[in-house]
Amino acid sequence: MEKLSISDMAVFCKSKGFVYPNSEIYNGVSGLFDYGPLGTELKNNIKQDWWKTFVQERDDIYGLDGCILSHQDIWKSSGHVEFFEDIMVECTKCKERTRADNLIEDKLKIPAEGLNATDINKIIKENKLACPKCKSELKEAENFNLMFNTSIGPVQNNSSVSYLRPETAQLIFADFKAISETMRVKLPFGIAQAGKAFRNEISPRDFLFRTREFEQMEIEFFLRKDQHNKCPYLKQVQNIKINLLTAAQQKKKEKHKEIKINEMLKEKMLTEWHAYWLSISYKWFLDLGINKEKLRIREHLKKELSHYSSATFDIEYLFPMGWKEIHGNANRGNFDLMQHKKFSKENLDIFDEEAKQKILPEVIEPSQGLDRAFLSFMFDSYNFDKKRGNVVLKLHPKISPYKAAIFPLVNKLDNDARKVYNLLKKDLNCFYDTKGSIGKRYARMDEIGTPICITIDFQTKEDSTVTLRDRDTTKQVRIKVDELKDSILKILNK
Ligand code: GAP
Repeated sequence: MEKLSISDMAVFCKSKGFVYPNSEIYNGVSGLFDYGPLGTELKNNIKQDWWKTFVQERDDIYGLDGCILSHQDIWKSSGHVEFFEDIMVECTKCKERTRADNLIEDKLKIPAEGLNATDINKIIKENKLACPKCKSELKEAENFNLMFNTSIGPVQNNSSVSYLRPETAQLIFADFKAISETMRVKLPFGIAQAGKAFRNEISPRDFLFRTREFEQMEIEFFLRKDQHNKCPYLKQVQNIKINLLTAAQQKKKEKHKEIKINEMLKEKMLTEWHAYWLSISYKWFLDLGINKEKLRIREHLKKELSHYSSATFDIEYLFPMGWKEIHGNANRGNFDLMQHKKFSKENLDIFDEEAKQKILPEVIEPSQGLDRAFLSFMFDSYNFDKKRGNVVLKLHPKISPYKAAIFPLVNKLDNDARKVYNLLKKDLNCFYDTKGSIGKRYARMDEIGTPICITIDFQTKEDSTVTLRDRDTTKQVRIKVDELKDSILKILNK
């Protein structure tokens, strides 16, 4: 199989232990997936690299691990309880409910995100769109709230109502006061959180792309209004080349163009700090090996912008089902802090030494979906090698589930091979395999993206050397056991 569809990828992920449909023994639940042994490793590696890059290697970002359940007022203040909705259409006969913009996009091949119910009803009528399941007539489009409701404590009443968080971001705003008081922060600074989010999607689809339980890795970067165009790191990013699809190009149905990020600044499409966060979020994908031809930045059209956002850009990946958002990057002003200040009656202003007064900062929000990152790395690395006759998953070594596999050439060498395995596995996630020919063992490791295979043979006994085989080139070199760990670490950090 050379060109993978999204369902082929789901089959591949299941067959290799990356991702399984949730509750499969009970026929599954739509929009829920479990990560298997290899998927868990890959997902954790992606998350760890993100955390290292955007939190640990910086001194202006603080980490947070907030609760999934919170006081209901967090979600009332943020607007989610009232407005976090998608538009759905229901079939008059079979009662199937479908996300209206998905139906229009699928049937008419036109973009439909951001359309209101009136526009949707008009398009459905004009084009005689029917139920995708039974082809019967559809009811008028209506709003559907995506929040998962629950209740906290043994007594169920109005005050026990709670929600599973639909984004990690609001916890950052809710804990903003605590973090700014305890961490001696100085504007500009950010708070990062990675964790689960839940949305009762009307039509979950495309495998991991739109699910009802997923993970986000989000940053809220707080700054004073007058700091937006004072980013000291601009030099580091201004020459990064990006594929950009502007709102104007979308209206004219033009394709994206490769530009440098500073051209966006010249056109005043966004502020300096926004350009910085957008470009380093884009670069993170390139640094982890994503094909630059399959990555682009798309500017939101006016009608897509939330009422509080002055500019939003998506990073999109070219999946088999087209260009799709994998990351959102918005200038949210001070909408969220202002809402929480109003509803909680807590003064969330912080004293700013430079401005010599208390202020309520604004934010730039880079919001990364972990499962969509996972899916883009899987598609991007998937190669079917005709010569080898097997899949080679060319994952960046930093994120591959296993860093090395260790094989004794024959069972007699098991003791010697286990010594090498034990030496490495304390520091690196390694796999030990004795079954089948060396060729078969190589192929199994290619398919799950293991960058290095190490074979222990009879020469190992004589001179303490092993063969190290590279997944992508299949080249083999002989290397001393003593030098093995350093050589592998060099490959992992390339
Ligand atoms: N705090 C802003 C926010 O949540 P969003 O565009 O709704 O913005 C951000 O979500 C990212 O979360 C998306 O770019 C995507 O990667 C991921 N995401 C959102 N909904 C998802 C879903 N149903 N399934 C998987 N990932 C999702």
